[in-house]
Amino acid sequence: MDVATERRLGEQIAGLLAANTTMMADSEYRQPVSHYIDAEHLRRERGLLFRRQPLIVAASAELARPGDFRTVDIDGVSALIVRQADGALAAFHNVCRHRGCRVVDEEAGHKATFTCKFHSWVYGSDGSLRHIPQQEAFTGIDRASRALVPLPVAERHGLVWLGPIDGGAIDIEAFLGPMNAVLAEMKIAEGGVFRFEKYPEQLNWKLVVDTFLELYHVPHLHNKTVGRFIEGRGGIYDQLGRHGRFVAPRKSYDAVRHLPIEQRQLGDHIVGIHRVFPNAIVVWQRDHVEFWTAVPDGADPNRCIVRTWLISPEREVRPADREKWEKNWQILRGTVQVEDFPMARTIQQGFHSGAQDHVVFGRNEPGLHDFHASLAKAMGGGAG
Ligand code: FES
Ligand SMILES: [Fe+2]
Repeated sequence: MDVATERRLGEQIAGLLAANTTMMADSEYRQPVSHYIDAEHLRRERGLLFRRQPLIVAASAELARPGDFRTVDIDGVSALIVRQADGALAAFHNVCRHRGCRVVDEEAGHKATFTCKFHSWVYGSDGSLRHIPQQEAFTGIDRASRALVPLPVAERHGLVWLGPIDGGAIDIEAFLGPMNAVLAEMKIAEGGVFRFEKYPEQLNWKLVVDTFLELYHVPHLHNKTVGRFIEGRGGIYDQLGRHGRFVAPRKSYDAVRHLPIEQRQLGDHIVGIHRVFPNAIVVWQRDHVEFWTAVPDGADPNRCIVRTWLISPEREVRPADREKWEKNWQILRGTVQVEDFPMARTIQQGFHSGAQDHVVFGRNEPGLHDFHASLAKAMGGGAG
């Protein structure tokens, strides 16, 4: 981070810790329960967010060589993303141009061509239709117009964005705005994927993002895990266009906050939690990066698909470092999957009880205010 930002954050965090408080919004925020359980609300989110915005779907390191591919399901759309011979990425609807069968079933791999399992039409890695068995039966069609249907894909800062699924290519630099420089600093492009995991959760997709956007719960829910290392106060939330950066102090900052600002080495004493609109969290952890996405699982507002990546700083993890990264992975799972998500499932259940029509985000939870205001804005409504 630039010197001025580091200085500002260092002073702001020190001031908040000295006052035993945290950054406050002007007032509380009332968030409608219906936004988490209403099927019609989810239908609008799917149309306006998941079909009309670019979404982080992979790390560049997962598609390193020409012919490396990944498939990803977003909102019922199966996409095939392939590294091209010239080093660029291309993405296609994973839908055969003969009778519509899904062409590639594997989640990831390396192939020169893709053969549909139904009647073995063959597509090149550029999506072109290369071979039709019994081709005399198809003399009346134009092969060139039967390539796999392209989807917009973009790659920046070591991350891969798919979409908008409905709509043309998008300028990711412009989309990210002030988040560009922040993501660039994390050097994700130089790293490797130590672990990737995808799993269904019985949660509205927004509860996954909510989990990361306040420190208020850390000394309570996580008192035996990350609460031992991270402060429950002193967090600074900066809105960055439609995205946001939440800087959380580690407990170690307390010992250095009295030093002159240039001696504090702020980066050693913070966790950077970055919300990338609409559905991703990129966590900067001093020596590595973790990122998370949540997408709706079909039309049910109570279900989502969570994807998690742990990015090591080197492309290939040295055998001597494996234990360290494995331990980081276990901390990540132990905190989020063992503590946050089971608690959040009870929220999802309680939303259906009829007990209340809204929940309240305190003045001490400004990251939640900004996340939900950014969604309301994109969906054409006002903030609550
Ligand atoms: S549906 Fe793919 S080859 Fe027939
Ligand atoms: Fe948590």
